[in-house]
Amino acid sequence: MPHTAPSPAITTAPTADTLDERNRDPRQATEEMRGTAVSADASGDWVVLGHDEAVQVACDADSFSSAVSAHLQVPNGLNGERHAAFRRVIDPFFSARRMAALEPVLRSVARDLVAALPHLAPVDAVAEIGSVFAVRAQTRWLGWPTALEPRLLAWMDANHAATRSGERSRTAAVAADFDAIIEEVVTAKTLDGDRNDVTSELLATTVSLDGEPERPLTRPEVVSILRNWTGGDLGSIALCVGVVLHDLAAAPRLQERMRVARRPERAAIIDELLRRDDPFVSNRRVATCPVDLGGQHIEAGQRVRIHWTAANRDERVFFDPDLIRTGSHAGHNLVYGVGPHVCPGRPLATLELVVLVEALLAACRIEPSTDIPTSREVSPVGGYARVGITLRPIREEK
Ligand code: HEM
Repeated sequence: MPHTAPSPAITTAPTADTLDERNRDPRQATEEMRGTAVSADASGDWVVLGHDEAVQVACDADSFSSAVSAHLQVPNGLNGERHAAFRRVIDPFFSARRMAALEPVLRSVARDLVAALPHLAPVDAVAEIGSVFAVRAQTRWLGWPTALEPRLLAWMDANHAATRSGERSRTAAVAADFDAIIEEVVTAKTLDGDRNDVTSELLATTVSLDGEPERPLTRPEVVSILRNWTGGDLGSIALCVGVVLHDLAAAPRLQERMRVARRPERAAIIDELLRRDDPFVSNRRVATCPVDLGGQHIEAGQRVRIHWTAANRDERVFFDPDLIRTGSHAGHNLVYGVGPHVCPGRPLATLELVVLVEALLAACRIEPSTDIPTSREVSPVGGYARVGITLRPIREEK
């Protein structure tokens, strides 16, 4: 059974090695602790910075439980057979067949967005491209009304601000706002009896738990799944777009390589850019038993954070973490996690990112712009807050 008791205060006194990410770029903060595999953070939680240690925690779900919240979190807050049962329900929504069917829809979303962007004028790659594309792609995928777009964009801003503030009351309020949006959509779909989109299919999905016969998903389970598919991931896609476009603007030769590459190589380069600067910073666990990890002793009940951003730059695995090596690094890349909770949405995230980059590269060269000052995010968010770029149409160059 998962250990769900509140964690006792950590007894380890903060040392010179204590990680303090407050108001700092998490990548920079952890970069200063290279060589440290596991450390306490400023609030006393254990932070797993080393690559192999991160893999160990993520793969050992018996010792490191994902039941870190009192709220229902399907599937991310579940463990063991219950978790596996929900993954059997969720994973098929991201099958290769479904992604192939979705691709033309995403291509048209990307093409329309790129066509509407100003040329030779400064653009913020995070807010004006990443966030807008994320919301449009997700609403089209889920079959949600396009009229929701402004509300979802406003929600992303509020969610971002609440996450950065670290205030529980604010994060609870934005979570409640999001649940209200989902409830509205789900109620409308239920009344419509509309069965021709992903949300309606989810409503009609069944699950079998604890050897019981198949039963329909409950309303709280559907809402929780949709919250995981959208709430967290809209922001992740927007941040990933920021990192990828920043790096392509800064490296014209890499951009050229992307332009002429085939689809699998493009996807592999995107994976590497995200490994080098992973904006999806961390996930939580709670230790269910005493464990020695990376030279530290973790007691049962203590909170543990897998720091993907740091683990993806561990020099013991990626000799020079800044080098883009699509071949040798791919098998160690932790951007989408590893183990039983590995990201089920990876095929969708990859398709969205590739399709967007392809639409941009087909139409323009991406150049840095200083008119919008580029700035880094601060913990608990990674990547860039703003990325100034200029789009130079390819046709006008000839
Ligand atoms: C843009 C990039 C994305 C990144 C970097 C990312 C990263 C991750 C990571 C690292 C995990 C592992 C969490 C853990 O071990 O606790 C995860 C889990 C998850 N992701 Fe993603 N993700 C992305 C996009 C998506 C998308 C588009 C969806 C769905 C539409 C999605 C749905 C989920 C869900 C449901 C889980 C929980 C899985 C479980 O607990 O079994 N993700 N993601």
